[in-house]
Order: sequence, then structure tokens, then C-alpha cells
Amino acid sequence: MTDADQAREQARAQAREHAVEAALGTLDLDTKARLLAGQDMWSLPAVPEIGLGSLVMSDGPVGVRGVRWTADDPSVALPSPTAVAAAWDPALARRAGRLLAQEARRKGVHVLLAPTVNLHRSPLGGRHFECYSEDPYLTGAVGSGYVNGVQDGGVGTTVKHFVGNDAETERFTVDSVIAPRPLREVYLAPFEAIVANAHPWGIMTAYNRVNGTTMTEHRHLVEEVLRADWGFDGCNVSDWTAARSTTGDIAGGLDVAMPGPATVYGPALAEAVRAGDVPESAVDAAVRNVLRLAARVGLLEGVPAAVAEPPSGIDGPALARELAVRGFVLVRNEGAALPLDASAGRTVALAGAAARDARVLGGGSATVFPERIVSPLDGLTAALPDGALTYSVGADPSDELVPADQGFELRAVCRDAFGAVLGEVGLPTGQVQWIGDDLPAGASYATMASIEVTGTFLPRESGEHAFGTRGLGGFTLAVGGRTLWEGVQEKGDEGDPFEAFFGTPGERARATLAAGEPVEVSLTYRVPDMSALPLKAVVFSLLHLGPQRDPDELIAEAVAAARAADTAVVVVATTERVESEGFDRRDLALPGRQDDLVRAVAAANPNTVVVVNAGSPVELPWREDVAAVLLTWFPGQEGGAALADVLLGDAEPGGRLPTTWPARFADAPVTEVVPVEGRLEYREGLFIGYRAYEKEGVTPAFPFGHGLGYTDWAYESLEATADTVRVRVTNTGTRRGREVVQVYLAPRQDAVERPASWLAAFAGVEAGPGESVEAEIALPARAFEVWDEDAGGWERIGGTYEVRASRSHADTRLTATLDIA
Ligand code: BGC
Repeated sequence: MTDADQAREQARAQAREHAVEAALGTLDLDTKARLLAGQDMWSLPAVPEIGLGSLVMSDGPVGVRGVRWTADDPSVALPSPTAVAAAWDPALARRAGRLLAQEARRKGVHVLLAPTVNLHRSPLGGRHFECYSEDPYLTGAVGSGYVNGVQDGGVGTTVKHFVGNDAETERFTVDSVIAPRPLREVYLAPFEAIVANAHPWGIMTAYNRVNGTTMTEHRHLVEEVLRADWGFDGCNVSDWTAARSTTGDIAGGLDVAMPGPATVYGPALAEAVRAGDVPESAVDAAVRNVLRLAARVGLLEGVPAAVAEPPSGIDGPALARELAVRGFVLVRNEGAALPLDASAGRTVALAGAAARDARVLGGGSATVFPERIVSPLDGLTAALPDGALTYSVGADPSDELVPADQGFELRAVCRDAFGAVLGEVGLPTGQVQWIGDDLPAGASYATMASIEVTGTFLPRESGEHAFGTRGLGGFTLAVGGRTLWEGVQEKGDEGDPFEAFFGTPGERARATLAAGEPVEVSLTYRVPDMSALPLKAVVFSLLHLGPQRDPDELIAEAVAAARAADTAVVVVATTERVESEGFDRRDLALPGRQDDLVRAVAAANPNTVVVVNAGSPVELPWREDVAAVLLTWFPGQEGGAALADVLLGDAEPGGRLPTTWPARFADAPVTEVVPVEGRLEYREGLFIGYRAYEKEGVTPAFPFGHGLGYTDWAYESLEATADTVRVRVTNTGTRRGREVVQVYLAPRQDAVERPASWLAAFAGVEAGPGESVEAEIALPARAFEVWDEDAGGWERIGGTYEVRASRSHADTRLTATLDIA
């Protein structure tokens, strides 16, 4: 930013503050209290008297879902945050953010509920795929890029989940017990970096407690640390249903309680002020933060928005493809197995259920519905000459029913109590998720008695097809005109308010069907009386699972195809029941018979390339027996096209691991995420990720920072001062490439307990064959500091440090010595 820009920005900020104060001054207590509570699932009320529009929020982080949780309102789906972090490129994350701002504007969204910057404390964490890294510095750098990008587009963010929400078990109540140093140096560090580098307009306080206090009420961390120490001036929004106490939340610095209208703010807050339990000044402070946010996103009349001309015209699918390529991590490539030789006459045998039905994103609130999905099979079919590719399922890990999709043509028909049609709408899948007044035209909660999901199903395979339901309430299921099941699904006892969204699927009936012969299907849902409910919603799904074939036969087919081909490509994957919000993983094994499939294919063809489609680490026990292993994370909607780009060498896989991949689950530093009597003790202190592996002397399958491209690099020279590191590298290969130069610090001796080494900074450089390039990398002061508990401040630790220029945490190419005063 130039000085002139800065001056202009300051003047705008001042004008904004004046307008906010003026608007606040005209509001009565009831309106102020109302403005702090959701008016529905996603928005705050408008206050036309002061020219304030209704502020709309939406998840986040791989796309912008919009206020409708349905597939008929598609969104661009970018790769998972683990993939974005794997690119080690804040500028690329910023471009992703700008695209998301464009998406948000298209969908009438003002605040994106993202990014998720909790840490990869344990690979079991259910939302691991949704967080960036095990390293706080990398998380902060990528998160800053993302927030800057979204806000470049004039759209707000809520950096989440502040703080200590690093696993899902008992997530609403768990007390994360974290000592002061790891809290500051590890878990708060990404939030602090993002506040400093990207000035987020919002934050989301988490469900959990930290050291005994629930996060929406955590005055110390919110008011003293986030606001006073770091200078955060944005809006503090609760995680959904996390606000539980009117007086506790307002005292704790929570500005907005979501969703509404039934929540602890609104009328309850006004009453608490009248009763003398809450000072009105606390309400004013919260309203000020809401108005400032509204002004920034252009919702307060007469105040110029923070961004006058947001970027536009960004090609979403193209960026999704680029990001996927840049995030793919090639962890093994024996004998330069990749890129594939695609010359005439060469053949590829592709196997794996996820090669055909790709898993492009993780489950839970991060779900968006892309307009199209390019699977590996689609991508390779388009890229390879006719006849060069065969496909077999090989192993199918999904043994659970999923919303009816492949082969289904469905619509939802809403009827009144007499069977008259009120309205209907086409459905891309068997999932109905209508929240609030988002109903098909003509339908209303008052008049709607039933909703029928109906249409045809064209089976891909002959055999016994299973049909089922997800959601709570009464259903009738019919296939081929015959009623196969009628019944009621009662509420379970897990108590998760999102049970209807993520709840366990139930199989209801089976039907023997023939491939290629269409059949009628119908699932009728009896709409309950919702007149007394504060938030009305219809959430249920028609589920389906194709015939389960003999697993040995599937493997044998894939092996035969692999034997006959020049190269075998096996796509292995996790499923939605393995990686999702709402629960943690129990182990890191690939589900089903996928390990057997890889072993059998590798035995049949030495050129076996394994593509791992998982958002977080899985065990790869056969990794030394295959030619190449490419990690593609959840690659977003264009994943299959990106895969073809990389496998065939049109692009280099750009990723480096943002998190250590253990050889065995037992080697992971933190293997327990189940609280004991409500408490989850972060006993490992500072030692998560590579810091722990190094401390314990455990060799992982693939170290932090590891990733191969399609060229080679020589590290020529390293110069280090206390604030800059210069590293010269030469591309010694035969094609252009990008290298991520990683700088680690290792203290020679230590008076305080610290990891043996840590990532201090990094930079990406590009060079053509034979070219040299110098990376100039700023060393942040924080890299030399520790949190001094007694003094309550940061302390610079002097002494001699080894500065390492590395290709990964385990692959140091050059070292220098640095004396720090
Ligand atoms: C998740 C948040 C999300 C919110 C709204 C919560 O369950 O924890 O990350 O933003 O729902 O969907």
C-alpha cells in the first residue's frame, strides 16, 4: 500500500466510525438487542430506519454455499484447505479468496464463515481436511492470504473456530486444556498472524471451552488477547448454537449469537439490560462491531464500502483446476514413473471406486454443491487417446447408503393435506434441505402436508439395490410402484442439533433391478407441524446403494486389467463416513479392501501409480511397493482434470506436505481425541506434528514439507541475518518448475524448552531448466520468541541458531549459523 492509499483508507475508516456512531445513537435498546441475534439460520435483521441492510453469512471455506443448503443452487468447489496449504503459497490462497468473494457477491452473501485455522493436532480430527496444517506459521501465512483475498472482494470473513477446536468428539462442551505456552505459540498463533496480516472483519468463537471457560464467554481470550493485545476491531460471531448464556456471552465479548431467532440475544438481551444484569454499554459495544462490519461490506447506507471496486470476471473452474494441481503432493516417484509416457499405443488401467465417483470435498458445514464434478475417469478419458484407458472398480469402500445421485432424475413435489400440488422443484440429488422460507414457489409451512421426492432411476448395474432415508420423521418409500417401507425415524440421543443433516443413514428396503432398465422411485415425507418451532426447516434424503459385488472378484478384474496395461493407476479414498465434521476418525486405515487392491495391482504391474483421494493422512502400508504415490486431498470440482494434467505431465504437481504423514497411526504424536470427563488435555504441549516426531525420534512415512516436482533443484548458497535469509537455487532438471524453499531454525543450545527445530519462513521460486534464482525470505521476529508466562509477554531468546535451507523438514540442503543477541 502506498502512503496515499493508506491515507485514503484511514479517511474512509474515520468516516465509517462516524457513521457507525451516528447510527448507533439513533437505535433503541430493543432494536440493538435484535440486531445481535440471527433472524434466521444465516442472516441478521435489516434496520431500514438507519439504512442498514440484512447481513447474510454463509459457509465456507471451499466455496460459498449461499443461504440455500441445496444442490440446485450450485457453487464453485475449490480443493480442501489441506490442499490449499499444500501449495505453500499465500498469494495463491489470496486468489482463491478473491474468487470466493466473487461467488459470495453472486449469491448475496456478505460474510464468508471461513477460514478454519485450527491445527492438525491429531490426524484423527474429523475436520482435519478443513484446517490447513500442523504448523502454526504455515497456517497463519495461508490463512492471511485467504482472508486478504476474500476481503479484497469486499466480503467479510470469520476466522474460525477461536480457539482450541482441534477435534470433534463432544465438540459442543469439551474443555480443551492447554497450557499458556502452547496456547500462545501454537493454537492462538495463526489467529494472531491473521489479525496482524489481514485485519479480518470477523471471528467465530468456538463451541468448546478452553481451560474451563466456554469460548463464546471467554472474556480473557476475546477482550484481552484478541481485541486489546492484537487490535482486532471486527465482529465476534458465535459458532452455530454455541451461545448459551445471555449475560455470560455479552460479558465475554460475543457480538452476534447465531442462528436465530431463538437464541440468547434479541429480546432476552434487552430484558437482561432492563433487569440490570447487563450494562447497556456492553450491548452498544457489540452493536458497534456489527455496524462496522455492515459498513465495511457496504450494507450501511451513506457509508462507502471498504472496497469500491471488487475484482470480477475470475474464472472459477479454471482456478479450481490450477489450485488442485498446485496442491497435489507427489510423495514418491521411483524411476521417474511420473509423468506417464502417453505416446501412441501406451495404455492405462484405471481402478478404484473414487476414480469414477470422485470425492471432491469433505463432509459437514463445509459442503457446497458444485455445478459439475470432473472425476479421475472423466479427466483421463478426455486427456488420453481413444482406446488407451480401461476402468474397473477394483474395490468399493462405500458400503453405506448415500443421497441418490448417479442415474436418478428426481424432483420434489409439495402437496397440501388433500393431495393438491402446491409447488415443485427439480432435485439434482435425493437430498432435500430447505431452511427457513427457502421453499419451492407456492409451498408454505402452513399449507404443506407432504413432500414427495419422485422420478426415475436408471441402474448402472444389475442386482440388489438398497434404498433408504436420512432425516427425522415419517416416510413412505416406493420403488417400481410398490410400497417397500413405511415408517418413522425418531430422534437419536446424540443431541447434535445437526443430526438431521449428518445423521446416520438408514437402509429401508432392497429391490432387484436390471442395468439399463429405468424404474420409478418415490419417497414421501410427512411434514410435521412446525408452527411452534423458531426455525422451520425440511431436511431429509432419499438414499441409495448399488449392488455390492464380491470383493475378490472386483480385485481380480482390476488385476487382469492392470496386467494387460503399460501403467496401472489406482485411486484410493476415504468416504463421508470417515472424514467429516461432527465426529473424529478412529484410525487411519483406508476403508474396505483398498489396501488389498493396491497390493494385488502392484504385484501385477510394476508401473503402479497410486492416487490418494483423502483430505487428511491415511496409512499407506504398501507405499514402498508401488512406483508412485500422488496425494490429491479432496481436490475440488475440477480434480479429475487436474489429475490428468499432472499424470500426463502438462503440469507439475506443486504441493509440499502441510502435515506429517505417519507410517502407522500409532506413530502419530497425538492418538487420543476422546475427552476424559469432559476434558481434553493437550498434554503434548508444544510438540505436535514434526516437532513431536523429531523429539521422539520417529521417522514418518512422509515428512512435513516433503513433495517432489518434475524437475530437480540444487541449493547453491545460503546467507542469513537476523531478519533475512537469502537462498540461491538452480533448476538442474529439464523442465520449468517451482520450488518451495523452506527455512527452519534449530537452536544450538536452549535454556528454555523448545522444539529441536521449527519452520521460520518459506518462499516459492520458479525457474526454467539450468536457471538460478534467489529466494529472499524475511525472517519474522516471532521465530526467535517464546511466550513468557510469568511476564505475560513475548521473550526473544538469544544465542546461536542453525539456519537451515531445506526441501522438507527431513531434507536440509544448506546450513548457516546465526548469533542472535
Ligand atoms: C460449524 C461452523 C459452521 C456453522 C454454520 C457449525 O456447525 O462448526 O464451522 O460455520 O456450523 O454452518
